[in-house]
Amino acid sequence: MGLSDRIISLGTLFTVACVLFSIYMRDYNELDARLINVINGLISVEEQQVRLSPKVAVGYGACVDLFVDGKDLLPSDVENLRPRHHDFINDYFQLYESYSYYFQHGAAAERFTSNSSLFDELVSAAERTPGSRYVIGGNAAVMAIRMHYEGCRVLLAATLSDRHLKSIPEEITVVGGPITRDDVHLILEYKAGETWGSYSAPRANRYILHNDYYNPRVKSLHDFGAQLKAFRPDVFVVSGLQLMDNYIYDEKRDLRIEILQGIRDQIFMVPRSTKIHFEMASYTEEKLLNLVKEDIVPFSDSLGMNEQELANLHSLYMYGNVSVVTDSTPRVASVLDEMRSIFWEIRRTSKSVPDHKTLTRLHVHTLAFQAIMTDTHSPWKQSDVAAAKASLTAYRHVCASPEVDANQAKLLMDDSFSRSLNGGTDRVVLEPERPVPCWQEGQVTICVATGVVCRNAQQTAGGGDNISAAALAVQI
Ligand SMILES: *[C@@H]1O[C@H](CO)[C@@H](O)[C@H](O)[C@H]1NC(C)=O
Ligand SMILES: *[C@@H]1O[C@H](CO)[C@@H](O)[C@H](O)[C@H]1NC(C)=O
Ligand SMILES: *[C@@H]1O[C@H](CO)[C@@H](O)[C@H](O)[C@H]1NC(C)=O
Repeated sequence: MGLSDRIISLGTLFTVACVLFSIYMRDYNELDARLINVINGLISVEEQQVRLSPKVAVGYGACVDLFVDGKDLLPSDVENLRPRHHDFINDYFQLYESYSYYFQHGAAAERFTSNSSLFDELVSAAERTPGSRYVIGGNAAVMAIRMHYEGCRVLLAATLSDRHLKSIPEEITVVGGPITRDDVHLILEYKAGETWGSYSAPRANRYILHNDYYNPRVKSLHDFGAQLKAFRPDVFVVSGLQLMDNYIYDEKRDLRIEILQGIRDQIFMVPRSTKIHFEMASYTEEKLLNLVKEDIVPFSDSLGMNEQELANLHSLYMYGNVSVVTDSTPRVASVLDEMRSIFWEIRRTSKSVPDHKTLTRLHVHTLAFQAIMTDTHSPWKQSDVAAAKASLTAYRHVCASPEVDANQAKLLMDDSFSRSLNGGTDRVVLEPERPVPCWQEGQVTICVATGVVCRNAQQTAGGGDNISAAALAVQI
């Protein structure tokens, strides 16, 4: 090849590169414009929120999350360490073995600490570690706080010590405490690429230790009943029941049947017109989920859950078994199909239960989108506003910022979706002037909002509860 040929081919290469780059830039700019349109569209829908101050009772429980850097709490020079899994943790060595096992896989883990004095020592050491911080957690407490910020008057069932009760806004009436020893969740965080001893973490994650006593026993139940009746809430939120999942009670008997019956009795203490909302969560024990299916679901007007929990409930209703993990980024069509099928199945099966309620609302939150299905003739208001609010709350919570910044955000959804996997070619197009499409299918109305995903996560725990509570508050 001569010199001029080489110049020509270099020139060609340069031209090709420029063309490719401009195509890339055009795609990038179009995407950017779409992202900004979606965010602005959602905010304008959210602004249509009609603010009222309904009364909301929220059960059950609270915990305090104590965050600490794993490497600051655990010594890294442990000898003869063999990373391995333990079902529960009884001494320091088991903790190091278990921590190193999950750490080297970058896998999330949550372990019960069977030795309370060990747990208390770890908590005090974590409190003394610079940078550690306490945050109120637990589904009921997080939902209660969110609904308070949305203008609701809130009664919360939770057992907390005086020290942590102070972190709950004083306008919220807390029933069930105080206690002297909180249910603390000790959250050992680590970053991607971090090393501990001779191990390194492939991704950021956390290892959680707990020694819960009050939450699995729903200790606030008794005191709550007395106030609930007089409070006459507009909505009664039932949540936090998964803290009983796989718990080993030292009472020598399974308390869960009694607890669930106690909760069902409380559902009957509020006026029949009070809407019951049940917030699902992660259940792995078929026995417990079956109790929930019998004692709680038939008496619920509304259900909230994420895509994993939807698949789990769907599997229980359709096949009678639990499903522990499922696709974490499902298509809209497949989520809507599962929603349709459990919505009608729950309504059908509840009919044979004395004093049952009729399910009229189902909210499923996923990373990529929010979907709300309501009975068109039910009093649930503003589903489009609720879906927009849910999407923005997800971003705001994870980015820990009230402002939605397009530079920190991304969309996971295409600009159109199909309503069902079973045939039908009509796709719903997401247009800037109609950011939250809603449509009617016979007796139900469905609204879908594009999810705005925070690219720089500051906090993830409690996201689902904030999202569900924000959307619910809008609809009362
Ligand atoms: C429980 O933990 C304490 C404090 O670390 C320890 O002294 C004790 O041996 C542990 N108990 C058992 C049964 O391992
Ligand atoms: C549940 O049962 C269905 C139908 O028998 C089966 O296809 C599915 O794999 C089961 N799921 C689990 C998690 O066992
Ligand atoms: C979600 O709830 C937690 C606990 O109440 C709170 O700290 C956090 O700010 C909430 N997030 C949003 C977006 O409101």
